[in-house]
Amino acid sequence: MPDTGQIRLRPIDEGDLDLLERLHEDPVEAGEHDFYGFRHPGRLRRLWFEEGFLSPTGGRLAIADAAGRFLGEVQWHEVFQGPASPCWNIGIALLSSERGRGVGTQAQVQLADYLFAHTRVNRIEASTDRDNLAEQRSLERAGFTREGILRGACFRAGEWRDMVMYAVLRSDRPTSG
Ligand SMILES: CC(C)(COP(=O)(O)OP(=O)(O)OC[C@H]1O[C@@H](n2cnc3c(N)ncnc32)[C@H](O)[C@@H]1OP(=O)(O)O)[C@@H](O)C(=O)NCCC(=O)NCCS
Repeated sequence: MPDTGQIRLRPIDEGDLDLLERLHEDPVEAGEHDFYGFRHPGRLRRLWFEEGFLSPTGGRLAIADAAGRFLGEVQWHEVFQGPASPCWNIGIALLSSERGRGVGTQAQVQLADYLFAHTRVNRIEASTDRDNLAEQRSLERAGFTREGILRGACFRAGEWRDMVMYAVLRSDRPTSG
């Protein structure tokens, strides 16, 4: 795995909000696989002020370097395969300047470890566009297993797109307990 120095996950603070908004609302910064149109100007900032980004059914954390500088974010939300079977679906976005040097892989390892350590779920899922080779490779390097294709599942940039489903189970990470 590439050496990314000391990246870590931490709560998003007020000073991160400009970059976080740019990551989601600026089509160039979001990049070809992660821009879904202009949606909710100011919404992220409002949510942060009103309720924060950490709740029992989901959350978002900043990916930071050793100095605490914001590099991007990870997020998760609850999905169910059965009424008593919650699992997490996770997502990630890095600032464009921080891509391609292993940060995404390290952050997804750390997020899975964090969620297995602090919540009782058995399964953490991630799905990504069939064309998003960087995220597929990053998930594989982070220990996720490729499970299959969700055909025509996601509408983005004028097309219904196939998604690749990945997951990691608690038993795949014996050190997570
Ligand atoms: C997807 C993303 C999180 C990956 O994180 P990253 O730090 O850039 O990726 P890494 O540096 O950990 O690279 C992972 C692997 O993908 C490979 N990769 C990177 N870009 C690639 C590309 N365009 N095509 C093929 N492989 C690519 C890398 O070579 C690396 O593999 P290797 O270690 O075997 O060489 C990051 O690029 C990103 O935030 N992209 C924009 C938002 C996004 O697409 N989010 C995911 C939505 S589901």
